Amino acid sequence: MKKLLLTLVSLASALTVALADEGMWLPCLIGERVADMKAKGFELTAEDIYSINQASLKDAIVLFGRGCSGELVSAEGLLLTNHHCGYGQIQRHSSVEHDYLTNGFWAMSRAEELPNPGLTVSFLVRMEDVTERIAAGESSGAIVESAEEGGKYSASVESLYYGNKHYLFVYQVYRDVRLVAAPPSSIGKFGGDTDNWMWPRHTGDFSVFRIYADRNNQPADYSKDNVPYTPKRHFTISTQGAAEGDFTFVYGFPGTTREYVTSDFVDYTLNYSNPAKIHLRTLRLDVISEAQEKDVATRIMYASKHASIANAWKKWQGESLGLARRKTVEKKEAYEGRFVEWAKGTEYEGVVESLHAKYAELLPYAITRDYYNEAIYAIELIGLASPRTLAADNVESIYKDYLPAIDRSVAVKMLKEFGDNVSAEFVPQWYADRLAECGSVEAFVEWLFDTSRLTSAADIKAARAEQYDFESDPARAMRVAFDGLYREKIGPKYAALNREITALYKTYMRGQMAFEPERNFYPDANLTLRVAYGSVAGYEAADGVYHLPYTTLDGIIEKDNPEIYDYDIPQSLRDLYASKDYGRWGVALNGHHTIPVAFLAKNHTTGGNSGSPILNGRGELLGINFDRTWVSTMSDLDYDASICRNISVDIRYVLFVIDKIGGAGYLLDEMTIK
Ligand code: ARG
Ligand code: GLU
Repeated sequence: MKKLLLTLVSLASALTVALADEGMWLPCLIGERVADMKAKGFELTAEDIYSINQASLKDAIVLFGRGCSGELVSAEGLLLTNHHCGYGQIQRHSSVEHDYLTNGFWAMSRAEELPNPGLTVSFLVRMEDVTERIAAGESSGAIVESAEEGGKYSASVESLYYGNKHYLFVYQVYRDVRLVAAPPSSIGKFGGDTDNWMWPRHTGDFSVFRIYADRNNQPADYSKDNVPYTPKRHFTISTQGAAEGDFTFVYGFPGTTREYVTSDFVDYTLNYSNPAKIHLRTLRLDVISEAQEKDVATRIMYASKHASIANAWKKWQGESLGLARRKTVEKKEAYEGRFVEWAKGTEYEGVVESLHAKYAELLPYAITRDYYNEAIYAIELIGLASPRTLAADNVESIYKDYLPAIDRSVAVKMLKEFGDNVSAEFVPQWYADRLAECGSVEAFVEWLFDTSRLTSAADIKAARAEQYDFESDPARAMRVAFDGLYREKIGPKYAALNREITALYKTYMRGQMAFEPERNFYPDANLTLRVAYGSVAGYEAADGVYHLPYTTLDGIIEKDNPEIYDYDIPQSLRDLYASKDYGRWGVALNGHHTIPVAFLAKNHTTGGNSGSPILNGRGELLGINFDRTWVSTMSDLDYDASICRNISVDIRYVLFVIDKIGGAGYLLDEMTIK
């Protein structure tokens, strides 16, 4: 009996240990986690992570743009994020003469740092529980307005735990953010879409920016008189690395997770949405890839589109595999069964049943919406037939990366899928009529592209000169017809049902917390600042296959192949490897003297965490988070500590590239490197 008890106790504690890697915690409540963190190797205090009275680590972290994270690494406003987060800026500064995407960019003085109008970074000034104020009848608009102090700050009230809590987030937003350095894409995007979401990984996914401020260190629009921003805090960089088992934490802005939804949502994702979206994107990617293989110019033109279509496409496949393997739907159904029993006679009675019913009502709208987004709006011509294009004077730049031949093939495939899968009530009359007239999807697409004047910049300009009526253009008419039907029959209904579902979740969330009083509930990610923690760890990739948590320069050299675009490294990197000129960055790892490149850890992260600092127990910078493994991606719905890993680029590789490839060693002088 005693033995059995002991086994049960150790099983239970093994379970909590395993579960504890899950979670994206609010910095202001991190005190509740610190005992657990300390037991695992954290050496600081809750106040070091988040404080409103003194500088803390949060003051060295920014929301970069609208969907990435970044961290300060010098007293002069120097900031690190991912190459893929700075990609748009790097691309915008690139031209045939200065191809920074291909060759990299290294500002050799402050004067060479490049401004990026529209790019902002946001520091969290404070966060505050305003649940009671809202409950007492204060409006979130009024709370936001007073927090913004007449424009000094930017604030928002966000709902957490499905409206059971409300938090005020107050940000200071800097608007003069300059590009300082970026490695060549053959380093920053090494492995391309082939290696994306994969391990072993060898991507040097970083870029360097600098925040500028006015003379009073306050946010200002770009001006040559601005000066480097002095942060309250910047990260100390550790060159010691972290070994398997060592404590790490990731501090940044995760975008969206849905850990507390019912089986209905997971079932929809796994059995309806993901398969449809994956299939549609496979068709699109096949057309694009085939054209890219035939022609180098096409490859370059469609590189960025291909990358972004492929990114989610690959993620969904990993997610579906994970959800199926974890039997997440069945697990949730069983949980809901237990919940329903327990909820009898409580205020939570009936909530799960209501959610099931509402999701059933939502289903046709959700599927149709997926087909609109992933089939109809995947036809580039429909996107181009917009008021923006009609009004633009820079039509050439809008059409710079557009090939109607590709779009025609895509359109045929997308419209066939749409026709086969969307019920007649959601097909616009305009389209049904034209399709009937033309007799087939192929003939319709031919007519559409042959007749439309919106398929090239030259044609638009010619049509303008002829006083052509663009509103009668078939592409424009098609856009108006699909937009119109969506707005009439899909969008509002979809939104209304989702509002009802969200209201039910408010009850269900509270119910789950009452049902499992011992469980540590963290709020789903919503692009607010969070702390995740976990150790450096490899994983069992397949039966008998263990993946080590570190990759090295030696692995880059193994993959290097001038014939394969994704694996063609710069000659300078080959030379450094040949001469073993690693300077202070070389270490003994995986059995050789080498440069560490990327590493795995158990931190619970998601999209938006790209660019987040990954830190050791002393809060020193070990690297920059940039991805998860493919088999982890179901963690947005169902985290599994045994297999979910975040991927970071090792800071020593970043410094090595800045120093030896970029020759921008002077940047290292302003960093605090230990
Ligand atoms: N998978 C990473 C993320 O979700 C990186 C994406 C960029 N890289 C790429 N090859 N598409 O954002
Ligand atoms: N690459 C993702 C991003 O841009 C992070 C990967 C993920 O964890 O989803 O945020």
